[in-house]
Amino acid sequence: MTYVVTDNCIGCKYTDCVDVCPVDCFYEGENMLVIHPEECIDCGVCEPECPADAIRPDTEADMEKWVEFNGKYAALWPVIYEAKDPLPEAESLDGTPGKLASIFSEKPSAA
Ligand code: SF4
Ligand code: F3S
Repeated sequence: MTYVVTDNCIGCKYTDCVDVCPVDCFYEGENMLVIHPEECIDCGVCEPECPADAIRPDTEADMEKWVEFNGKYAALWPVIYEAKDPLPEAESLDGTPGKLASIFSEKPSAA
């Protein structure tokens, strides 16, 4: 079992999740984070920390694609150890549907 980051992180990237993870298994793209499914120890402490409610256990329905997605980008993006400021449009984009198709960036974080 693992937890995964899902689409509402896109464009928000609040990063509150990063500070509570005991094993530093969040990886940073340009406009979202992912969890490395093989490093996550399933502790669950990050889930309630996300203001965008974007973190889910893979035991929920239809999470297979997100496990694959998180694993794919965790292998490509740098690890993130500390929380940082959210993206500038975080509040306005929180809850916007269809962000994966419209604004998701495959690029790794620049910083
Ligand atoms: Fe880290 Fe625990 Fe969240 Fe997994 S469930 S990403 S180990 S805080
Ligand atoms: Fe994303 Fe939520 Fe973490 S918006 S960066 S999963 S706190």
